[in-house]
Amino acid sequence: MASLQFQLQATDGHSAARAGKITTDHGEILTPIFMPVGTAGSVKAVSQQQLKNDVQAQIILGNTYHLYLRPGLETLEKAGGLHKFNGWNRPILTDSGGYQVFSLASSRKITEEGVVFQSHIDGSKHLFTPENVMDIQRSIGGDIIMAFDECPPYPSEYKYAEKSMHLTHRWLDRCFERFNGTPDRYGYTQNLFPIVQGSTYADLRKASCEYAASKNAAGNAIGGLSVGEPDHMMYEFTQLCCENLPAEKPRYLMGVGTPWNILECIALGVDMFDCVMPTRNGRNAMLFTSKGVINIDNKKWEHDYSPLDDGIDSDISNYYSKAYLRHLMKAKEILGLTIASVHNLAFYLWLVGEARKHILAGDFISWKNEQAAILQQRL
Ligand code: GUN
Repeated sequence: MASLQFQLQATDGHSAARAGKITTDHGEILTPIFMPVGTAGSVKAVSQQQLKNDVQAQIILGNTYHLYLRPGLETLEKAGGLHKFNGWNRPILTDSGGYQVFSLASSRKITEEGVVFQSHIDGSKHLFTPENVMDIQRSIGGDIIMAFDECPPYPSEYKYAEKSMHLTHRWLDRCFERFNGTPDRYGYTQNLFPIVQGSTYADLRKASCEYAASKNAAGNAIGGLSVGEPDHMMYEFTQLCCENLPAEKPRYLMGVGTPWNILECIALGVDMFDCVMPTRNGRNAMLFTSKGVINIDNKKWEHDYSPLDDGIDSDISNYYSKAYLRHLMKAKEILGLTIASVHNLAFYLWLVGEARKHILAGDFISWKNEQAAILQQRL
């Protein structure tokens, strides 16, 4: 069993985009890649079979915060880890909880030691530290696990962003110390990725990239973006981070974004993405398609019996009509949530797959420019 490997297969001549292959003990991931979010061990409304066959997902996410609170570590450990528990035998990445305690917990207090927070489920009190978050992620069993960080809000004052970044760096040292001192839990290799912070300050971002890179981890993540800043700032700091993180390691941009955000950030050198947008927006009747964005609730689709999206290779997207999905959503039939979620995820996976093909073919930028008008169009 071996540490995660990253093989760069092609770099674009006209942008920083690249195509690569990540190898883990649970299989390969072709990059650039989008990772569906399976917060509590399930991608909402989507089965593992659908993730494999319709979506063609190569890796999914889980969240430490949710899985630790429910079902809890005893259940996960007795199952033999999350792969065994949920039946997903391809790679899994877990986020550390550093973000969720800030966005979800009903109260939280940050100290040097860690974060004390109250569960959003029953109000019970818990402490996350860099050490126990490593132990918890070892027990969950992700192939890629994330460092415990603080994600400052946007906007943040320079002084706060700087203080927060240094805390994240001290936590990063503690994460690696614990991670390196503990064995892989289930016989395959787990890999720890550091997370770059530094808010919207170039000198802090640069310092944080250098700090992250100094850990010589198998990959690096960019956090603290897509937290309310305008898109042009997200691109500016994504570019700065890509330029200051090692080229020979995968770069993961956390929590991004719209289809168009993803293509722009692939052009800046990002290899891995995750976001709740395809599933969350799908459940709210918003469909991303290869012809533009659809609000399936709109009366316009009432008698449109054409497939949801015949431009992508997904059985569900080709099979069901817009009129039928509109009916399901209006009638609050739960199948509607599944069809919308599976379709949106299949579209995201199609999009990154096409990006990869065009990077390999050498015409990524001209293809991306064509996509700009299509992806941002409302049908
Ligand atoms: N998900 C989206 N952004 C972040 C971040 O900054 N940190 C963590 N841990 N997860 C994220």
